[in-house]
Amino acid sequence: MTGAPASVFLEAGRLQLWDKQASDLDFLASLSADPEVMRWIGDGATYPRGEIEARLARVLEIEASPDHERWNSFKIVRRKEDGAPVGQAGILRCEIDGIPQVEIGWWLAPFAWSQGYATEAALALRDYAFAEVGLQQLAVVLHAANARSVAVATRIGAGAPRLAQYRDRLVTCYTVRPATPAVSG
Ligand SMILES: CC(C)(COP(=O)(O)OP(=O)(O)OC[C@H]1O[C@@H](n2cnc3c(N)ncnc32)[C@H](O)[C@@H]1OP(=O)(O)O)[C@@H](O)C(=O)NCCC(=O)NCCS
Repeated sequence: MTGAPASVFLEAGRLQLWDKQASDLDFLASLSADPEVMRWIGDGATYPRGEIEARLARVLEIEASPDHERWNSFKIVRRKEDGAPVGQAGILRCEIDGIPQVEIGWWLAPFAWSQGYATEAALALRDYAFAEVGLQQLAVVLHAANARSVAVATRIGAGAPRLAQYRDRLVTCYTVRPATPAVSG
């Protein structure tokens, strides 16, 4: 597997979001092999290591191409305290109901749940998307029964849930918009 040397994309409180690199394979394979993590992702199936290896190779190839937008990818979320990977999160171009949009997403390894990490990473990504990329809205695609993910979406200001077509699935789609600036005077 090849790719540009990875570096920190974004600081997020106790966390850093890193570009993916080939050495992330073990961690990504362990995330995708965990039924607790995958329960509400895609059709809920876990993935074998070989599939994740092939996907990571494709991602690294895409991310190494000169016209790739660096922000448009899932990043590895690392704890600053010890550098350990705890999950992945990012903002990604996608299509919802056939319309090009940008979604924000998060996955954590179960050992890292219940510590506020997903919300911390998502808030930093949300603010980056609006302030640095100049996006006017982000979509959150989830299953309404995924209560932990709904809670993260709510904490970053997502609202207006609706049913939507995403790839081959019907999902719940929330929208996050930049906060309306306070009017003074
Ligand atoms: C969705 C997911 C990322 C949510 O993780 P999470 O740990 O519940 O969410 P947060 O990181 O925001 O943590 C919030 C919890 O940390 C607690 N917390 C502890 N310390 C905290 C701190 N310093 N700051 C904020 N919250 C803190 C909060 O009280 C809250 O507690 P709760 O677990 O009792 O609700 C996680 O369940 C997951 O990875 N699931 C599998 C993948 C998935 O489904 N992804 C979403 C696809 S749409």
